Amino acid sequence: MESGSAVAQAPGALPVLGHLAAFLRAPLPFLRGLPSHGPLVEIRLAGKPVLVVCDPELTRTVLVHDRVFDKGGPLFERLREAGGQGLATCPSGEHRRLRRLIQPAFHHSRFPGYARIMTQRIDTALAGWHDGQTLDLAVEARRLTADIVVSTVFGTGLDPTVHTRLATDFDTLLAGFTRHSLLPGPLRKVPTPGNVRYERATRRVRREMSYLTAEYRAHGTTGEANLLSLLIAARDPASDTPALTDDELVDQAVTMYSAGTETTAGALCWALYLAALHPPVQERLTAEVGTVLGGRTAGWDDLPRLAYTRQVFNEALRMYPPGWFLTRQTEKDTHLGPYPIRQGTTLAYSPYLISHLPGLYPDPERFAPDRWEAAGREPDVPSTVFGGGARKCIGDEFALVEGVLLLASVLSHWEIELHPGSLGLPRLPQLTLNPGRMTATLATRRHHPRPTTAPHGTAR
Ligand code: HEM
Repeated sequence: MESGSAVAQAPGALPVLGHLAAFLRAPLPFLRGLPSHGPLVEIRLAGKPVLVVCDPELTRTVLVHDRVFDKGGPLFERLREAGGQGLATCPSGEHRRLRRLIQPAFHHSRFPGYARIMTQRIDTALAGWHDGQTLDLAVEARRLTADIVVSTVFGTGLDPTVHTRLATDFDTLLAGFTRHSLLPGPLRKVPTPGNVRYERATRRVRREMSYLTAEYRAHGTTGEANLLSLLIAARDPASDTPALTDDELVDQAVTMYSAGTETTAGALCWALYLAALHPPVQERLTAEVGTVLGGRTAGWDDLPRLAYTRQVFNEALRMYPPGWFLTRQTEKDTHLGPYPIRQGTTLAYSPYLISHLPGLYPDPERFAPDRWEAAGREPDVPSTVFGGGARKCIGDEFALVEGVLLLASVLSHWEIELHPGSLGLPRLPQLTLNPGRMTATLATRRHHPRPTTAPHGTAR
């Protein structure tokens, strides 16, 4: 291989463990410290070298060259166990065809319909909260986003028992992914209660989904088009046969649930938390929500006037991007900028690290929604928070619409008093950057009555 610049080694590697202990103990400060060593920095996680990309331009190069820097490595292998050949985990060879088939379900024209479902589900969930109630917002946020994904993927016509069972099983699956992605192989097979639950939930989800798919194929769907019905209807233009097999359909549904639940829930929690810690932000946010919604749940038509809410959500995404550390496997000898990279090398890119570079975001540790001020247009999205290139998040617009509707609606109905020390981070890094716990007490928000015409889909 040609010569080139040498990759910097992160200091402080211990024998055997390398940087694993430092990474597990305090991953965020660890990542923030890496760019000072160079644009590409080698860390060692239990003997395995991983090259962490610490420069925005090199990150873009990795993301754009997705056939060279492909999805792979232990994390993706683990995710494939449950998600099969889902869009997020499949290798680049399968990806283009799948993405082409699934993309229409995320076309902009579908969003008013999805937003209507979101508003309805948010409205129902928030109506179940009561004055003086103490709850864990992290749990509630996850329940809500899970409910929204299940409703948009499978449609709102799903039998409520099936809906609840699917959401519960998917939840067990997701918890299992995280545990399994951290456990060494042999321990994953030990029949601990957690592993048994995980295996059972995986089997049940696949069985339930196969059944639903067969039903949809035989009888069609009732009501509005949903993601599953769109995928079932997709035909292979060459053979005019169904484009996706039943197994592939199951894989896509599992993928959407996994990729679309914890991510948006985490972002919502961080936004609520950060706003609560910054009273001037909180005041401006609740003033906007009060003026625009007057106590209602937010709907699609409200979005253009919830500009500051969007800025707050964006800034929370920048401060704590849910997808925070993602790996790639190098498929052939290549170069990344001046650095020669050998086939088989594991690289990692980190939206968290990039979002905290002072050259991109001055004073990056400061929570400053004003940086997203964009008069008369949608503000940009924080760099790499949704990845990039062909593997960029397909649900980015879905997540932004959902996040703003959720944040505005929660604050429209409820005052949230966070308990001191309310936020508990998980003890080990998770797949997504989420608060593990967030305890708060609710009080009904009082609004000065103002006459409004509720846009469609806003029930309360
Ligand atoms: C705030 C919320 C979200 C964030 C921060 C986020 C972030 C990301 C990131 C960083 C990637 C790229 C992963 C990589 O490069 O390895 C990704 C991919 C993906 N996301 Fe999201 N996501 C969010 C919400 C959603 C939602 C709501 C859905 C679905 C309804 C979704 C579905 C997907 C899928 C299917 C992929 C794989 C795309 C592909 O490879 O073609 N995400 N997401």
